[in-house]
Amino acid sequence: MIEVKNVSYSYNGRKAIENVSFSVKKEFVAIMGPNGSGKSTLIKLVMGLLKPDEGEIKIFGEDAEKTRNFIGYMPQKETIAKHFPIKVADIILMGVTNKKFYTKEDIKKAKEILEKVELSHTWNKKFNSLSQGQQQRVLFARALAKEPKIIILDEPFSAVDLPSREKMISLLNERKKDGIEILIVVHNINPVLHDIDKVLLLNKRAIAYGSPKEILNHENLMETYGSFVQIVTCEEGYCHPLIGDEHV
Ligand SMILES: Nc1ncnc2c1ncn2[C@@H]1O[C@H](COP(=O)(O)OP(=O)(O)OP(=O)(O)O)[C@@H](O)[C@H]1O
Ligand SMILES: [Mg+2]
Repeated sequence: MIEVKNVSYSYNGRKAIENVSFSVKKEFVAIMGPNGSGKSTLIKLVMGLLKPDEGEIKIFGEDAEKTRNFIGYMPQKETIAKHFPIKVADIILMGVTNKKFYTKEDIKKAKEILEKVELSHTWNKKFNSLSQGQQQRVLFARALAKEPKIIILDEPFSAVDLPSREKMISLLNERKKDGIEILIVVHNINPVLHDIDKVLLLNKRAIAYGSPKEILNHENLMETYGSFVQIVTCEEGYCHPLIGDEHV
C-alpha cells in the first residue's frame, strides 16, 4: 500500500513536484509524463531517498525511509561507477541479501533470478562490460531478487529489445498475481497498456489518475504533454497514445 498525500518537492527553489496525491493498493500502476515532469523525483520520494517539502508519503502506514528494505527498486540511472569492476553476480546478490557473506541458498536464488532474465551466461562478467539493455535486465533482476512487497521501476524498458521486454512484463504479471504493488515509469505505455490497472499522468502536478480506459484521452494527454498526442483506439476500447512508440 502506497499513499502519497499532497506532496510537493523543489530543487533549489524550483518546484519539481506540486501537490501530488495518489494511492496504490495491490495494483500495477504506470507513471507517464514528458522529460523533466518529475517522474524520477516522485519515485525517489516514494523510495524515501528524498523527503517531501510538503505533504506525506506512507508505505503500509509507515514513513517511506523505513520501508526501503522491502521495496525492489530499479533506478533510471545506475550509480555504479563506470570503471568499478563489480560483477553481475555481486549486483544480483545485493538484491538477494543485505549481508556481506552469502550462503549457498543466496547464491542459488541469485542464479535463479538471473536465469529468469535469460542472462545466466553473464554471472561472472563485469557489469560494465554488458550492453545497456543487458545492464537494465540485470538491474531488473536485482529489483525482483528479494521477493519484494512492492516493485518500483524507473524506465525499465528504455534500452531492452522486444523479446526481453515481453519477458520482463510477464515476470511482473506473475508477481502481480501475488497481490503486490507495482509502480513503473514508462515513456511508451503501449507495451503494458493491457496489463496495468491505473495510469498517473504527471507534469509536476497529477494531471489525471485512473484506469487507462478512463483517462487516456486527448484532453488529458494534451494537458500532460503540452501538445496534441495522436491516439489509436484498439478493438478492446483502449486508447494507445503514440508517445515514445516505435511507430512515431
Ligand atoms: N538533483 C537535481 N538537482 C536539481 N534539479 C534536479 C535534480 N534532479 C532533477 N532535477 C530537476 O527536476 C525536474 C524533474 O526531474 P526528473 O528527473 O524528476 O524528471 P523526469 O520526469 O524523470 O524526466 P525524464 O523523463 O527525463 O527521466 C527537472 O526540471 C530536473 O532538471
Ligand atoms: Mg526520469
